[in-house]
Order: sequence, then structure tokens, then C-alpha cells
Amino acid sequence: MSGLIMGGREIAAAIKAEVAREIAVLKNEGVVPGLAAVQVGENPASQIYIRNKVQACSELGLYSEKIELPAHSSTAQLVALVNELNARREIDGILVQLPLPPTADAKQVLFAVDPAKDVDGFHPLNAGNLMTGRPGMVPCTPAGIIEILERSRIPTRGARAVVIGRSDTVGKPVAMLLLHRHATVTICHSQTRELAAIAREADILVAAIGRPAFVTADFIKDGATVIDVGINRLTSPDEVRAVFREPSGPLERLAAKGSVLVGDVQPEDMKEKAGAYTPVPGGVGLLTVAMLMVNTVRAARRRAHSGRTLAE
Ligand code: GUN
Repeated sequence: MSGLIMGGREIAAAIKAEVAREIAVLKNEGVVPGLAAVQVGENPASQIYIRNKVQACSELGLYSEKIELPAHSSTAQLVALVNELNARREIDGILVQLPLPPTADAKQVLFAVDPAKDVDGFHPLNAGNLMTGRPGMVPCTPAGIIEILERSRIPTRGARAVVIGRSDTVGKPVAMLLLHRHATVTICHSQTRELAAIAREADILVAAIGRPAFVTADFIKDGATVIDVGINRLTSPDEVRAVFREPSGPLERLAAKGSVLVGDVQPEDMKEKAGAYTPVPGGVGLLTVAMLMVNTVRAARRRAHSGRTLAE
């Protein structure tokens, strides 16, 4: 069997087309949504993510600013920058790319973001809104996962969903979104006993742990929907051979490009056992960017129509 691929490219393109129509309406009202993307230090993966986010803004005609600060920036410096951005009228969305270097306290920095401009949905007020089913900013990757499921017509009501990973950015919020859509949700993590047996009960399996090809055939029920959130970069032939059963293609890609991307799910097992799955690359990652555009436009519309932010 070979599962249905839930392609991020098509779904992200459909969402971006919807966002483009909303942007046109706002522009008619004289509003251009604006995003500030803050990068601290030189984490190469973060550089690529921020570049993709800024590029999506320019494709859709959003205003964007990339702000780069040195790796040794202090919490106080970052909070001061966030406060400046909170006060600027042309900025609707503020995104502080994670992870921050160890010199900065990420929780304090995220807490400083005006909840109305918190397009990542990481502020505790928005986390609380999500928990209690109130409207607010929903984190982009979890929101994108729900879009993939809905637009691929995967039912969640009554489904068994297993989320592997308990991060504040993906695991916890996606579990909450699935719960609100009436799934029976189990969250697993590094201390979970009998992880594979629990995962094997899932109709919907979400892997968000950040470990290359951690989820293998014995974790996947035949016909399950598998959402692979991981983006892991392999850089040596040994790593590639350890992950892929048929390594010749990936080894060629490694030689040509210097690295090979793999998700948290063993790709050949996922293809064989899943009824539907998201590939890596070309899956969830594209939705994260699309949902950031959705959140930025939503923030701009709310600010334009209410005439104030929580910071003013
Ligand atoms: N690092 C990994 N994913 C994300 C994300 O969605 N937003 C931010 N700000 N940082 C991240």
C-alpha cells in the first residue's frame, strides 16, 4: 500500500490565495499589514525559516521587516526591542524566532509581545485563550496541521489522536486544537512507557519531537493519518544510511546539496503504512508560513477595526 500524500504546497497555496483576497480588501481601506521578524544570533535553520517568512510577505504584498540582533543580546535588550515594535503603528505582527540563545530568557521576551500582535500565539494570554476555547492567536504550525486535516477531509470527531512531543510551540497546542475538534487525544513524550504501542492506536498520529526518523513502522496503525512535523538536517553519509532503507537517492542529494532533510517519521515506513501523510520536505513547514500570513492579516484587521492595540 502507498498512502495518500497530503501536499503542503497545494494547501498552502490555497490558503495564501484566500489571504491575498483579504489583503486586497484591507488595502482598499488604506491598511497594509506589517510583520516584524526578529532573529537573534546566527542559527542557520532560523535564518532559513525567517527568509521564507519574509519572502511570503513580499509575495503577498505585506510589509515586512527583518531585525537581526547579535547572539549575546540580553533579555533586557530584546524586551526593549519588542516594546518598540509594540508601539509602532505600521507593525501588526511581531515574531521572535526561536530558539533564542542561552543569554536570553525566551519566556520573558515572549511575555513582552503585545498579545494583539502575537502572530506566533506564544504569549500566555493567547495560550490561555486556546486552552479555554476563546478567540485569539493560534500558533502557526498547530493551526497549519488542522488546516491540512480539514482540507484533506480527515475526520477528527471521535478519532484517536496521539501527539508525540509536548512542546509549548507544537505538541501542547495541537493537542488542544484536536481536543476542541472532538478527538480523543493522548500526548506522549520522552518519559512515556510503551510509546510505540500507544502510537499504534492512533487514527491521527502527530510526530513533533525533533528526532530524525524516530517514528518507525511499529508506531503506525495500518491506514492511519500521519502528520510529520519534524525538519531534521542530516549532513553525513553515515546518518543518511542509518535513516533510509534505500539510501542511494538520499546519498546523491547529500553529495549535491551537502544535507538531506528528514522528518520525525521514517519516510519509507510512513509511505507504506499510513493511509495519508505529510511529506518532509513539502508538508507541514509550508503551512507554518501560510498560517503566519493568516495571523498577520487577522491582527491587522482587528487593529484597523478596533483602532488600538493592547499596548496603546
Ligand atoms: N522556531 C521553530 N518554529 C517556530 C515558529 O513557528 N515560530 C517561531 N517564532 N520560532 C520557531
